[in-house]
Amino acid sequence: IKRKLSTSTILNNSIKNVTVLGGGSMGSGIAQITAQAGQNTILVDISPDCLKNSEKTIQSSLTRVAKKLYKTDETSGKKFIDESLSRIKYSTNLQQAAEQTDLIIEAVTENLRLKRDLFKRLDKSAPSKTLFASNTSSFSIEEIASATDRKDRFGGLHFFNPVPVMKLLEIIRTRETTEETYQIMLNFGRSLGKTCITCKDSPGFIMNRLNVPYVAEAMRMLERGDATAEDIDTAMKLGAGYPMGPLEAVDYGGLDTCAFVLEGWHAKFPENKLFKPPAVLLRLVEEGKLGRKTGEGFYKYA
Ligand code: CAA
Repeated sequence: IKRKLSTSTILNNSIKNVTVLGGGSMGSGIAQITAQAGQNTILVDISPDCLKNSEKTIQSSLTRVAKKLYKTDETSGKKFIDESLSRIKYSTNLQQAAEQTDLIIEAVTENLRLKRDLFKRLDKSAPSKTLFASNTSSFSIEEIASATDRKDRFGGLHFFNPVPVMKLLEIIRTRETTEETYQIMLNFGRSLGKTCITCKDSPGFIMNRLNVPYVAEAMRMLERGDATAEDIDTAMKLGAGYPMGPLEAVDYGGLDTCAFVLEGWHAKFPENKLFKPPAVLLRLVEEGKLGRKTGEGFYKYA
């Protein structure tokens, strides 16, 4: 029997303590914005070095956000930065970080086994009220959730890079996500200042389902020699108003990530030609040219 929701139920269930798993760019960004929004946040990673980097990234990003919000009012800007930083704790202890949390958001490497394994362990140690969410951009949420006994309290919270800047949050409801879980996640997303959209548990959800085939098509255009990388990117920036062209955007997000997503979908849906990984992408990845982070992808970076 579906329980009827009242506003007070949702408010009573509102998220005050958040645990974020994974100290990479997505995890750091998510931890930053939850802290900005006033939630007590723990960022967990197995690597202390990674957490040190996350701390640096968060500090410099908060400085940029403070400048935007407070302009020349340095006192208010500093207060905002200090208060946000004070709400974030860094931890390498997964079990401890899950003990008193309302929501766990997983943003570790795109590895299905790892994600399932983490949630399976957390299912035992986290309080039963704790909601679980994955920030996966390519796997099925149901496949991850099925490692736990809380499929009803499980959903997808899919953020975009750079998390503090991009205004969108995709909320993914599986067939088992309850209305209550969905409403709490929706309120949580809004509390972060994001515009929330909802999608079924389908490959790539909305944004990546449209964007990944589009960037793959740009790569095929480059492969055929129809146009240069610069002209393909200029076309989409000046002709379609995108902030970055498709090849620049893949360099920004990482060629390895793009190849990984396409390979996974191609294996699962071999009949869909849109998901076939372009040869140029696979070649660059094999050469270790993964985009901005390695200094070269479709472009070279100084
Ligand atoms: N933290 C805080 N603020 C940041 C920031 C960060 N990490 N990165 C940029 N900003 C701020 C800057 O301070 C700047 O603020 P002002 O306007 O006040 O000056 C503003 O954002 C613009 O930044 P820049 O001037 O440095 O550069 P830009 O105008 O080229 O914008 C960009 C950079 C926001 C990344 C923009 O190019 C953009 O929107 N690109 C598209 C990114 C995109 O496609 N993201 C989706 C990737 S797909 C994904 O994430 C899903 C997935 O599943 C992998």
